[in-house]
Order: sequence, then C-alpha cells, then structure tokens
Amino acid sequence: MNSMNGKSIAIILSLLVMPLVNINAAQAQPTKSNEDESKVPSYTLPDPLTTSAGAKVTSGNAWRDKRRPEIVKLFETHVYGRSPGRPPRMTFEVTSLDKKALGGKATRKEVSVYFTGKKEGPKMDMLIYVPNGASKPAPVFLGLNFDGNHAVHSDPGIKLATLWTRPAKEKPLVSSRAPEESRGKSASRWAVEKMIERGYGLATIYYGDIEPDFFPEGYNVGVRSVMDAPSGSSKSVGDEWGAIGAWAWGLSRAMDYFETDNTIDSKHVTVMGHSRLGKTALWAGARDERFAMVISNDSGEGGAALSRRWFGETVERINTSFPHWFCGNYKKYNTDVNALPVDQHMLIALIAPRPAYVASAQEDLWADPRGEFLSAKHAEPVYSLLGKDGLGVDEMPSANHPVGKTIGYHIRTGKHDVTDYDWEQYLNFADKHFKHAKLQ
Ligand code: GCU
Repeated sequence: MNSMNGKSIAIILSLLVMPLVNINAAQAQPTKSNEDESKVPSYTLPDPLTTSAGAKVTSGNAWRDKRRPEIVKLFETHVYGRSPGRPPRMTFEVTSLDKKALGGKATRKEVSVYFTGKKEGPKMDMLIYVPNGASKPAPVFLGLNFDGNHAVHSDPGIKLATLWTRPAKEKPLVSSRAPEESRGKSASRWAVEKMIERGYGLATIYYGDIEPDFFPEGYNVGVRSVMDAPSGSSKSVGDEWGAIGAWAWGLSRAMDYFETDNTIDSKHVTVMGHSRLGKTALWAGARDERFAMVISNDSGEGGAALSRRWFGETVERINTSFPHWFCGNYKKYNTDVNALPVDQHMLIALIAPRPAYVASAQEDLWADPRGEFLSAKHAEPVYSLLGKDGLGVDEMPSANHPVGKTIGYHIRTGKHDVTDYDWEQYLNFADKHFKHAKLQ
C-alpha cells in the first residue's frame, strides 16, 4: 500500500476509535510549560457524546446508562484511580455543639468520622455551621481546607487541628497540634458570615485528616493505608487511587454523614474546592451524584483546565511535582497527552445536569484560565442533551463579569486565591438554582 493510502486508513481508524470534537490535526505537546497564548498549538478533544465503540449518544438515557459510566471508568483508569465505596464499619460522633455560635447567628457542631469505626483513626474531623432560626434544614457548602478547621474562622470554640508536619528525612512522620495563633489564618478564603446571612451552612474538613499531603509517604497514615489496601506503596500502581481520589472519597463520607443530620438539607449540598482541592471537588462531584452542585475555584491542571491545551502547568509537570496525586496510569501520558482517552471538559460533563461553576483568576496563568473556560464550554453539549442551558456564551467574558446558566463561569482580577468576590458569585449561583430550598 502506498503512503497516502496508509495515512488515510490511519486517519479513518483514529476517527473510529477516538471520536473528535475539532477536526484539527493534534500536535504533540512540548514538554516545557508555556504562558504565551500565541504559542498554543492546535489540539483535538475527545467527544463526550460518542462512545468508545464509536456510537453517537443522542438521548439522555444513552448518556446516563452507557456513556456516563464509561467516562467515569476512563477517569478512574487513567487519571484519578479507583476508589472504594462506603466503609461498612464507619461511625460518626458529634464531639461538640454550640447553638449560640457567631454571636448567636449560627449553630456550630464538630463531628468525627471514624472511617473504620476505630477511634485511633484514620478519621476526619468536620466543622459545621448552620444558620439559626431556620424553618427548614440548611443547604450547605462543603469544602476541604488546607490549614485546619480552626484556620477557617477565628471562633475560639473550634478545636485546634492536629496537623501532620513534614518530617526530617530519616525521622518518622510526626503530628503536632496547630498553634493558637493560627486561628482564623485562612478566614479570608471562607466567607462564613456571608453564607450564614444568606441562609447557607458550611461544612469543612482539613484535607490532611484524609491523607497528609506534601510528601508521597502521606499514604502510610491516610485512608489509603487501610481502605482497599492496594500494592502497599506510596506510588499508586496502574489504576490504584491517588491522593486526589482519597480526598474526594472523604467528601463522599461527609455526604454520608449529612444524610443522617436533620439540620442539613443533604439534597442541596454544594461541593467546593480551591486549587488541588478544586480538582478534588470536581472529581467528588463527578463521581457522587448526591452532590447537587459543584464549584471549582482556580483548579487548573487535572481540574477544570484542558490538558491538551499547552498553557500553564502540564500533565508531565504535575505528575513530576506531585506524583502521589494521581494514579500510576496517568504518568503514561506525560509526553503524549493526546493519547489520553479523556480531557477535562468530560469531567465537567459528568456533573450534568447538575449546576457546575468554574472560576479563574487573571493572574493565575499556571492554572490556564482560558483552558478552564473552554473546558466549561466543551461540556455544554452534554448539558444541552439533558435539556439544560450550559454557559450560554461563546466568548470568554472580561474580568469580573460572571456569565452562565447551568454552568457558571467568571474570571476575576487578582491572583490564585479564594476571595469574597468569588464567594458572592457562588452564593448568587446557589440562590439561582436552589431558590426553592432556601430557608426564609
Ligand atoms: C501547585 C500545583 C497546582 C495546584 C496548586 C495548589 O501550584 O502545580 O496544580 O493546583 O499547587 O493546589 O495549590
């Protein structure tokens, strides 16, 4: 066969095997990172609405019964790894309750979740505020935090977290109680009073309770060491779950608790996260359909940003800097991102028809704001198939101009962070979709 024939056959075969959104020739992604828009090569995205066998998905039922489970499996196999289900011996314990917190405006509760029923751990401690004076259970925002529950608000009633600290090389892992001065350290990222005033509760958990981050050996003390124990190594092999999978699994365990607490409206829980915890919120919301709404704040690579778009952080870079976050198979795509059977618009599509919000920050080029917007945009066909409007715009909006219908999006001025501006948009978005569930 001559080379023309061989090439045409290869193109036809690739169209059959990997359904495409844009029929542009995909170019290999250079390995260094890029922050120059004019240098972004063309790329071709897999089509969320064509099955691996090449069948076009044209009905809501075909999406729900075939394509959605198939995409979940692809993300499990190639990106985040497989997660176990609810542990049969898990127990909950309310460890504190104050009905007059925040000047009487809220009830504060702390709940320990013992994953295997053993108090020695692994366990996670959840801090919950719900507004007082409610006639109905409260819709809540749920988010993992980076610095301990006590860092979310200066409220002196919050227990100081036990934080895992990075040990010196030869020393074993040590834990220490966070210092009193660190109360409220991250309060600017959690608009607690705003949420309470507007009729929402907040539930938050220190992500290190589920698995300590910053060093791959966190595996040895987090849930991955006791649940569905894989190969016994800090490096997930094949499709064994990584740390993001573990953190997302912890969020589902929080939802298990909400289903038992009659002050919380478990049908209106919004899972939210920033940065690596935004990647985590998206994966949790994609897998667990009990989450009614999902918010990604500056989640970037491995979160909302398209992996095939060569801008900001790359798959290779994230796998090298944070080898414990994703599954072993993900490393195979370090130098061949176009071979991934998914891209991140398909993660957002898994949230459909539930509302999803993607937020970027202008100075956060590492997270690729345009790639985050485009991901939301390319999830739209799935929302349309399910009878929902997606973003409702074709062009990326200018800074501080939120857009969107069932998929919301904004890019705000400023850097990689969570600000009051971000929270105001999330509260407005929740009001729009949860009106009927509100307290007043
Ligand atoms: C790094 C990493 C990002 C991540 C961020 C964070 O910058 O490269 O992927 O989102 O940390 O979680 O803070």
